[in-house]
Amino acid sequence: LAKVEVSMSAIPLAKNVIIKWRGKPVFIRHRTAAEIDDARHVDLKSLRDPETDEARTKRPEWLVMLGVCTHLGCVPIGESGDYGGWFCPCHGSHYDISGRARKGPAPLNLEIPPYDFNDAEEKIIIG
Ligand code: FES
Repeated sequence: LAKVEVSMSAIPLAKNVIIKWRGKPVFIRHRTAAEIDDARHVDLKSLRDPETDEARTKRPEWLVMLGVCTHLGCVPIGESGDYGGWFCPCHGSHYDISGRARKGPAPLNLEIPPYDFNDAEEKIIIG
């Protein structure tokens, strides 16, 4: 299956990019230390789909996930919503800076696609 490579140097700190993989949007965020800290200090009991940030990232500074709302499949908007992450305008779902569902109708966290870093550690390879 097709893989997509993304150069990490093209994504500055605190920025999002959206790429296409197998016809779906994939969100990549280069997270700041403060964002990682926020994501790691959420009480799992407060989550409807409890997952640690550590389980959702291979490297904490790089968050890679499908940009498909787990409610009915709209594309959430970055840098918005009540939890510092993404907001889905279709029916008002809020996701945090780890892409976890926090408020609104979305039942599950944004899905993590298969991905890895290349040996030179300069590219993220999706797929
Ligand atoms: Fe995102 Fe309904 S599709 S909230």
